[in-house]
Amino acid sequence: MRIKQIIGEIVMFTESAEYIKKYINIEPEIGIILGSGLGGIADVIENPVMINYKDIPNFKTSTAPDHLGRFVIGRLAGKNVICMQGRLHYYEGYSLEDVVYPVRVMKLLGVKTLIATNAAGGINESFNSGDIMLIKDHINFMGNNPLIGKNYDELGPRFQDMTYAYTPKLIYLAEQCAEKMSINLKSGVYIAFSGPSFETPAEIRTSRILGADAVGMSTVPEVIAAAHCGMQVLAFSLIANMAAGVTDKALDGEEVIRIAQEKGKILQQLIIEILNNYN
Ligand code: HPA
Repeated sequence: MRIKQIIGEIVMFTESAEYIKKYINIEPEIGIILGSGLGGIADVIENPVMINYKDIPNFKTSTAPDHLGRFVIGRLAGKNVICMQGRLHYYEGYSLEDVVYPVRVMKLLGVKTLIATNAAGGINESFNSGDIMLIKDHINFMGNNPLIGKNYDELGPRFQDMTYAYTPKLIYLAEQCAEKMSINLKSGVYIAFSGPSFETPAEIRTSRILGADAVGMSTVPEVIAAAHCGMQVLAFSLIANMAAGVTDKALDGEEVIRIAQEKGKILQQLIIEILNNYN
């Protein structure tokens, strides 16, 4: 019974991937997850094919504000890409297995490298709103892990190593590109909370003591699933606000999204430059 159920779930990923394949004539090599306010990069994809999550068999759809809920597949900076314009969040009530479902479908479509982006709160006091932080490592504070449950041996191992989850050679490439573009790229550790309430000032102070530089409600599950199925990973946080208690200012979710939209352009340009130099 259990085995049947597991085989059934792998068939689910395949069904979703087969549906998408019917509409595209390229094999996407790079998957890009566009975080809150960062959807603009999908608008510059050449020959885009758009597929709404709601039309894909076995897919769940995002309810988060400013998240469209579709794949955009095409060419960007000479590479075949598949962009997620909108992701699923744990705080929407999905299981983490649902949250990472699209990553596994992208794997079946041929994706080898995942570029994940998010809007985040700055914990490191040397950061400013509008900064871009290259994520070099993470702290999973969500209280859950997408790999809990029976392991999909076809995708990866039971005990996934996370030492090099953020691919060192892609980190190096991103740093080189940022330098060339005179972007003051910050780097650091991302801590993920479940949300949807923002953190308390005490939680942010605790996070700083633990070594975190930025805080958010996403990315960590997808990075774990991507590492598990053997993808290379590069991830960025756009610092949309300083985290709770870092300044006197209270947090406003709508303002966070507005600032991410306003300041997301440079991150888009950086990703395009990275793709131009990716091989
Ligand atoms: N906390 C958590 N998630 C966020 C924040 C924050 O301060 N800013 C943007 N996403």
